[in-house]
Amino acid sequence: MGKKTILLLLVGILGAYYVHTPLPDNIEEPWRLIWMNTQLKTVTNLALFAELLGINHFMNTVMFCMSFQEVPPTSDENVTVMETTFNNVPVRIYTPNRKSEALRRGLFFIHGGGWCLGSAGLFGYDILSRRTVNRLDAVVISTNYRLAPKYHFPNQFEDVYNAVRWFLRQDVLDKFGVDPKRVGISGDSAGGNLAAAVTQQLIGDPDIKIKFKIQSLIYPALQTLDMDLPSYRENSHFPGLSKSLMVRFWSEYFTTNRSLENAMLFNQHVPVESSHLFQFVNWSSLLPEKFKKGHIYSSPTHGTSELAEKYPGFLDVRAAPLLADDRKLRSLPLTYVITCQYDVLRDDGIMYVTRLRNAGVRVIHNHIEDGFHGALSYHGFKIGYRIENQYMSWLSENL
Ligand SMILES: *[C@@H]1O[C@H](CO)[C@@H](O)[C@H](O)[C@H]1NC(C)=O
Ligand SMILES: *[C@@H]1O[C@H](CO)[C@@H](O)[C@H](O)[C@H]1NC(C)=O
Ligand SMILES: *[C@@H]1O[C@H](CO)[C@@H](O)[C@H](O)[C@H]1NC(C)=O
Repeated sequence: MGKKTILLLLVGILGAYYVHTPLPDNIEEPWRLIWMNTQLKTVTNLALFAELLGINHFMNTVMFCMSFQEVPPTSDENVTVMETTFNNVPVRIYTPNRKSEALRRGLFFIHGGGWCLGSAGLFGYDILSRRTVNRLDAVVISTNYRLAPKYHFPNQFEDVYNAVRWFLRQDVLDKFGVDPKRVGISGDSAGGNLAAAVTQQLIGDPDIKIKFKIQSLIYPALQTLDMDLPSYRENSHFPGLSKSLMVRFWSEYFTTNRSLENAMLFNQHVPVESSHLFQFVNWSSLLPEKFKKGHIYSSPTHGTSELAEKYPGFLDVRAAPLLADDRKLRSLPLTYVITCQYDVLRDDGIMYVTRLRNAGVRVIHNHIEDGFHGALSYHGFKIGYRIENQYMSWLSENL
């Protein structure tokens, strides 16, 4: 063999290794997912490399690559799009052009991106907002919020909460022609986390008389305590969101110091003084048999109290809505939860469904057997359209 042949072979093997992604049989359009995963891998590897060289924080490089998918707030024949601020928080507002005598429904939407990435103006979110307006004849508020690594918890939560407080004022709803009895909140991933946290916080807020009629949580992140749930074990390397990336997102929400991330990876971040909190995220009692199959529950190992003292946010219910007690859960509105089988966050969503039902809250759980994290926002995937359709139908009937 000549040198060229060897070189070609080597490039081929490396290339195949890079593209290689073992997938379960029931994944629709596997090549589309493999291609997307190759693009994601390229961006994350680039970001890791830049971080290793000390050039740029990992998240800032990824954010830069994503910025090319931003679209300006452009109105079309059916929808007027504008940008403004609610309580100093930048939001995008989508209103139907069609005149209406009756008051409309309102949806407050929160984008995902691990509290570090994304914006209301990303192509996928912008188009979802337009479609929501068209399908529901509703007013959609798509909020932004400050992101890590520059800003940490509770800034993300507070920004969203402040924007919600502004929107839920009678005079503001009047201005947009929105029916105060038909306002909902929705978000995906980290946006689902913020939607759940904000909805809980609203319950006890005496200043806000108008409450949400529904909450919709799309593959939400809901707990920081146990990073060894069956869904984390089964999907730790699944395309789209690996365990290591999710742990990085969680820890970046609280701090840029990597010591929290390392402790979380080994599930050694919760101090023994907080062990009573594990009852709220105990998958052994909160997951249906089907999802526990083949897994053995081991009591989480405990860390020192140093991390919890430095970064108390990770034990805060505003960051981890699963930590709320039943008394608080009881007052939550009608809830829609989407979970995906191939998602490290699957069991967060399922445990919340169990806890809400135990507390007497009406919950509709839509588990996508062939779904994976982020599927709703991946443009062009059949599964994305399918989930979007189910989501819109549910909103249409219940909001
Ligand atoms: C506007 O609405 C009409 C009727 O529903 C639809 O056919 C058209 O594609 C919409 N336009 C855009 C830009 O979405
Ligand atoms: C990060 O946290 C660890 C453990 O709390 C501490 O020892 C270390 O000094 C911190 N590093 C920085 C750069 O602050
Ligand atoms: C979790 O639930 C199992 C079974 O329901 C129980 O045996 C175990 O003690 C619980 N552990 C914690 C930490 O709550």
